[in-house]
Amino acid sequence: MSRLPVVYVIYYSTFGHIEKLARAVIRGLEESGVQVKLFQVPETLPQEVLEKMGAPAKASDVPVITASQLTEADGFLFGVPTRFGTTPSQIKAFFDSCGQLWTSGALYGKFAGCFFSTSSQGSGQETTALSCVPFFVHHGINFVPIGYKSKNLVDNSDIHGGSPWGAGTITGADGKRTPSELELQVAHFQGSEFGNLLKKI
Ligand SMILES: Cc1cc2nc3c(=O)[nH]c(=O)nc-3n(C[C@H](O)[C@H](O)[C@H](O)COP(=O)(O)O)c2cc1C
Repeated sequence: MSRLPVVYVIYYSTFGHIEKLARAVIRGLEESGVQVKLFQVPETLPQEVLEKMGAPAKASDVPVITASQLTEADGFLFGVPTRFGTTPSQIKAFFDSCGQLWTSGALYGKFAGCFFSTSSQGSGQETTALSCVPFFVHHGINFVPIGYKSKNLVDNSDIHGGSPWGAGTITGADGKRTPSELELQVAHFQGSEFGNLLKKI
């Protein structure tokens, strides 16, 4: 690649935890020197339902992505909050809107990773990441994990999300826990490592 790689960070967030991780991922990517844009996927729930769930307003500075925009980037990092151990329907609906890109092979050879959020430990972080992989595989997109290079992942002095699959946070049953400094550092690490990898390719 003779130009700077372009990375899109694309997330869904009902309550703001994934959005916070996404902004840390963006800072890491920026530090690596790649070109970055932040997007959210389209909401599928009616406003009335979101209000009943106590969801705050969506970030007004983050545009909503369309499938065709994926062709503009060399890599994607998806922010995915867990729903029943898997991806939320909003992310799935966005993936399902990429059928034409699949038939044309438009995303073949690109790179992707993901980061995630659950309310508790052992309740779906890895399975959520794993449930994104078939989408990547069918498009011929290379999945990029973070491994254990960040020693934060093996720091057991406090509970934290994240794993070799990607950065993660734990919200608590009431959703009041915000991403910890360690979790934000892993998100930053994921961004900078992903950016550095794309620059090498
Ligand atoms: C319908 C529904 C299903 C959920 N399923 C799970 C689950 O399987 N495991 C879990 O730990 N949290 C689960 N949660 C909690 C969400 O993962 C949590 O609200 C989310 O990670 C917060 O991210 P956000 O603030 O970016 O929306 C669920 C929440 C909803 C609304």
